[in-house]
Amino acid sequence: MTVVHDDRPIGIFDSGIGGLTVASVIRQALPSERLFYFGDTAHMPYGQRHLDEVRKFSFGIVDALRRKDCKMVVIACNTASAAALSALREAYPGYLFVGMEPAVKPAVEHTRTGTVGVIATTATFQSELYASVVERFAQDVQVLHQPCPGLVKQIEAGELDTPLTEEMLRGWLQPMLDKHIDALVLGCTHYPIVRPLIERIVGPCVRIVDPAPAIARQVQRLLESKALTTTPASNGSLTCWTSGEPANFHVLLERLGLGSTEVRAAHWSGDVLNLP
Ligand code: DGL
Repeated sequence: MTVVHDDRPIGIFDSGIGGLTVASVIRQALPSERLFYFGDTAHMPYGQRHLDEVRKFSFGIVDALRRKDCKMVVIACNTASAAALSALREAYPGYLFVGMEPAVKPAVEHTRTGTVGVIATTATFQSELYASVVERFAQDVQVLHQPCPGLVKQIEAGELDTPLTEEMLRGWLQPMLDKHIDALVLGCTHYPIVRPLIERIVGPCVRIVDPAPAIARQVQRLLESKALTTTPASNGSLTCWTSGEPANFHVLLERLGLGSTEVRAAHWSGDVLNLP
């Protein structure tokens, strides 16, 4: 029997470096795949924008990744998934999309206190997707949700463990701790970058739920079921584009242990994104 392979890249995007927390897990799980990552740093933070605007950016990015011949697009951004995933699926029937949604289900399955916390962007909490996740998975559990405006900017500025970032996080997390959460969902792909700080604040009794490993497994399952995996033992790679300053992006990649990654400049012309 001939096994068919597909060596086209997998497209991944976020508003900035956050989605690299997902890309790096995909890279570990599927080391032979080529990954094309776009961070829309020029428009970051998405979480403070209107969902319509984030949807428009998401369409521009998906069009650009499809022109780069990507076989699938992973929306490694909760805000963009909330704003655009269903519209993208409708616009491109048959094309493979994997999106993020706050991982309320595993948090609900874990809780003993009956109270779980979710931190995400303001826009994510305003979305129908978030409402539907809570409705589907959190029937008998109290879900406390806390937007963290300004946190994504701190992370993009490399302020990962500074007194200000800690003070901001304590201000958001302490009220949830006072209400005895025992699970905390990271509902924005930037937040795992400050996970050590979050762990220090919430302590060992609160389980932190990051959906990235589940997303990587979903990507793998989809590729396998559609016979789209790359030729085994080929050299996988990660190539990044940013609509911001590549040098800054590189500094952040290094902090994530992905320092050898190539970073190219990308430009928006109106609603059209060019990935050279
Ligand atoms: N990383 C994104 C998310 O998962 C968005 C961050 C932002 O730009 O506000 O929601």
